[in-house]
Amino acid sequence: MKLPDELKQEALEIVATLHDYVQLQRERGLKTVPVSAPPAAEKAAPGAIPSPLKKDALRDVREEIGDCTRCRLHAGRKNIVFGTGNPDARLVFVGEGPGEEEDLQAEPFVGKAGQLLTRMIQAIQLDRSEVYIANVVKCRPPDNRDPQEDEMATCLPFLKKQLAVIRPRIVCTLGRFSTQALLGTKEGITKLRGRFQRLENGIMVMPTYHPSFLLRSPEKKREAWEDLQKVQKEYQAGP
Ligand code: URA
Repeated sequence: MKLPDELKQEALEIVATLHDYVQLQRERGLKTVPVSAPPAAEKAAPGAIPSPLKKDALRDVREEIGDCTRCRLHAGRKNIVFGTGNPDARLVFVGEGPGEEEDLQAEPFVGKAGQLLTRMIQAIQLDRSEVYIANVVKCRPPDNRDPQEDEMATCLPFLKKQLAVIRPRIVCTLGRFSTQALLGTKEGITKLRGRFQRLENGIMVMPTYHPSFLLRSPEKKREAWEDLQKVQKEYQAGP
């Protein structure tokens, strides 16, 4: 992969800063500079994409999707809704598929459910810009119907590629479709929610209720809040 100019510039600045630091230590009469290795848990996972390259790597995934016609959902879409947010996020939210507003704006979770999701994110002391948000299917199912098995199977590899680039610590799946797709299970959301499960690549998945469901069933918000508190605790616990 090519080194972008920006990255080279950043590397040069780091070298210059290190040089100044060593010089300062010399002037103070120190002959050695203390360095400490990061704790094992903080070392980048093998194969991890360096943070400055993640944006480009996500762009590559988007380019691979292209002007997709791989499943029937392409016929009714206005826009492909790829995903949005911090390419280096430690927490990713995954919904099922774009609704009308998302299809128009080419951005996930910008309608009513999206406003609730924003409040859920803020409730755990984070901002939308700090996390990444995506869906299992990237094109709007007609009349907001449920995404079908084959549509999810066609689109899932791209979500997995997004996650492979971002390598978040935690994925919070919203509702039954994203939960079942990522965990490869047919178990219902009521059973799955509230318990972390680990994917093969080490990512921890917390299933919770979909914000659209919470808008229809506000009495379930309390359980969703419990799930989010577990996410917050795990988020704060590690890198
Ligand atoms: N519901 C979803 O699952 N995803 C969106 O982007 C919007 C609503």
